[in-house]
Amino acid sequence: MITKINQLLQEVEAFTASDAGQVEAFRIKYLSKKGLIGELMNDFRAVPADQKKVVGMQLNELKTKAQEKIAALKEQFAAADTGGRELDLTRSAYPIRLGTRHPLSIVKNEIIDLFARLGFCIAEGPEVEDDWHVFSSLNFAQDHPARDMQDTFFIESHPDIILRTHTSSVQTRTMENTQPPIRVICPGRVYRNEAISYRAHCFFHQVEGLYVDQNVSFTDLKQVLLLFAREMFGEETKIRLRPSYFPFTEPSAEMDISCHLCGGKGCPFCKHTGWVEILGCGMVDPSVLDNCGIDSKVYSGYAFGMGVERITNLKYQVTDLRLFSENDTRFLREFEYAY
Ligand code: DAH
Repeated sequence: MITKINQLLQEVEAFTASDAGQVEAFRIKYLSKKGLIGELMNDFRAVPADQKKVVGMQLNELKTKAQEKIAALKEQFAAADTGGRELDLTRSAYPIRLGTRHPLSIVKNEIIDLFARLGFCIAEGPEVEDDWHVFSSLNFAQDHPARDMQDTFFIESHPDIILRTHTSSVQTRTMENTQPPIRVICPGRVYRNEAISYRAHCFFHQVEGLYVDQNVSFTDLKQVLLLFAREMFGEETKIRLRPSYFPFTEPSAEMDISCHLCGGKGCPFCKHTGWVEILGCGMVDPSVLDNCGIDSKVYSGYAFGMGVERITNLKYQVTDLRLFSENDTRFLREFEYAY
């Protein structure tokens, strides 16, 4: 019996494994109930009483060695296992939640893309402007209410420097620097000294359009605006031009579209009129062309300007303007799939 125990002891000590499966096979072979050590335990009963002590100690040593070996090998393979998993380069990555585009950017980009297809380029200008580009060049009389401190943000020490109140200032800058044909779309932020509420804010966004060439007519303006309205709000959209007044266009008009929520039948959104206003437009006043160094006897042009917030409200029924600048991700995430 002692010989058998010593033989197994040597086997146990010499045992190595290359994976966890071999360790388990080893455990079954030696330590399971019917395993080799188990058999020896059964045989132990027949050992004469005077040898029991010595044989018993040997047998116990064998059993402990075998258990220790298995525990050590198991640990080794378990550690190797985790290590492997940490470095598994084939594993797909955790989903990373990406940011979403701001609704105003979505709509602005849509407007730009649409006019780009019609040959309009983007023109930009500074938000901190001077009186000439925002007002004087555009025929605003000295006593025009828009020049009032109540409507416009002035820099106290430099009364000539203001935050632009509309993107029409980019019209002037473009015409000063380029001779016709000019076809530009000017997106940008504008500022007005308004109390902040659900329907007004001290800054918002506009997109201005300007087309100057020979023989540009009101028909061209109407055509391009009809196309814009249909692309933006759907094929069946109708437009309506109402006479209006802007210092820099003559004639001037305001454009309504048929209410896209009720199809023109009348609903609370369009205040039961069937129409909603979306932009201002007109033929560039000849004196504005001359102010900017473009000969009004040779060239004519049209211009239009729209509020991006307004278009976004119409498209997505956002009823509180403040949401656009509060950075509440619950609001912003609603536009995750809008583009
Ligand atoms: N600048 C005007 C505003 O802020 C909008 C506007 C009206 C722009 C008519 C134009 C235009 O170019 O032709 O209310």
